[in-house]
Amino acid sequence: MGFPDGNEQGKYLALDMGGTNLRVCEITLTEKKSEFDIIQSKYKMPEELKVGNSDELWEYIADCLQQFIETHHKDDNHLPLGFTFSYPATQNFIDHGILQRWTKGFDIDGVEGKDVVPMFLNAVAKRNVPIKLAALINDTTGTLIASAYTDPTMRIGCIFGTGCNAAYMEDCGSIPKLADMNLPPDTLMGINCEWGAFDNEHVVLPRTPYDITIDKESPRPDQQAFEKMIAGLYLGEIFRLVLVDLHEDKDVRIFENQDIKALRKAYTLDASFLSAIEEDPWENLQETADIFKTKLNLDITPAELELIRRLAELVGTRAARLSACGVAAICKKKGYKSCHVGADGSVFNKYPHFKARGAVALREILDWGVKKPGEKDPVEILAAEDGSGVGAALIAALTLKRVKEGNLAGIQHPDNYK
Ligand code: GLC
Repeated sequence: MGFPDGNEQGKYLALDMGGTNLRVCEITLTEKKSEFDIIQSKYKMPEELKVGNSDELWEYIADCLQQFIETHHKDDNHLPLGFTFSYPATQNFIDHGILQRWTKGFDIDGVEGKDVVPMFLNAVAKRNVPIKLAALINDTTGTLIASAYTDPTMRIGCIFGTGCNAAYMEDCGSIPKLADMNLPPDTLMGINCEWGAFDNEHVVLPRTPYDITIDKESPRPDQQAFEKMIAGLYLGEIFRLVLVDLHEDKDVRIFENQDIKALRKAYTLDASFLSAIEEDPWENLQETADIFKTKLNLDITPAELELIRRLAELVGTRAARLSACGVAAICKKKGYKSCHVGADGSVFNKYPHFKARGAVALREILDWGVKKPGEKDPVEILAAEDGSGVGAALIAALTLKRVKEGNLAGIQHPDNYK
């Protein structure tokens, strides 16, 4: 509820359970306005934990947290923790969150439909890890708040990474499902849009046969329709499916008379493979030819190389332009004529031309006319502060401050904040 003003202070822990890594951070919001110090450890999220039994997931998370605290934080002080749980959750309170459904390829039993906070806290309690949970947040709300800490013109937080999503601030008076909280109508509330689920009904966006295959083969068919066209988890797979199809199409027959065994393996190409193709600086696309040889054992003709480059451009451009539609939709809904948008995630930070393509699309949708030399875009998508770390710490800080002031709206267990 509400933006930070830059004067938040104190020491906090942040736990980030993203799609690829698990990260634990200790964040100090310093006395200097809008500044912070951070120490952090990253742990790879083992693939086998993304499926199967949920106990193993919580045990692993609690182990990582314990390890971090033993190394970095020897005193017994229970630090407040912000838990960035970046999946769709129904949150009636900030210290609560019922997982609606797994996204980003996760498929763990026994968590959907349940509050994840007690599951996490049980595993933590077994190890006597000295923390107190202050807030469960989404990476997009974290990104919004972390970016607003250093830039007061930030209005939207986005993630373009393994998944794709955004958050913005809404007035409580415009949120029908919060009517029974009786909050003043102009109170601000962070909204996690979960726009990855946009058009799950498939009535708006045209889908290619490749999009349909990706959806069908995923652990949650009919979910995350928009995300499956944009997010880093899927870009390489879309590209791979097209190549296999063009190999089999008797009018095209790329890679003719070659064994495409390696290319047939699902999810064998990730977004960094596409990035490398789009980044190939050579006229003869030599680097592209090299990675096809090393990764897929394929020899590529010059004409095929051109086709491959164009295909990568199409997949990357569609993703960037659809992403811009999401940002434009929020701007239109809120009437934002000019603002900053904070964005994070591997696709935003690493995929070539993603930012420029998104900016061109935003200009078209929001009708800014032809760009004059040196002119700044009214709505700019900029690299965000670390939302899942600093954002989680800030939201923990803001929540603690509210509890201290006696404002218990949206707090399930006020005693835990003492
Ligand atoms: C997926 C999740 C969403 C998250 C996004 C980016 O869309 O459902 O909660 O914000 O990925 O990580």
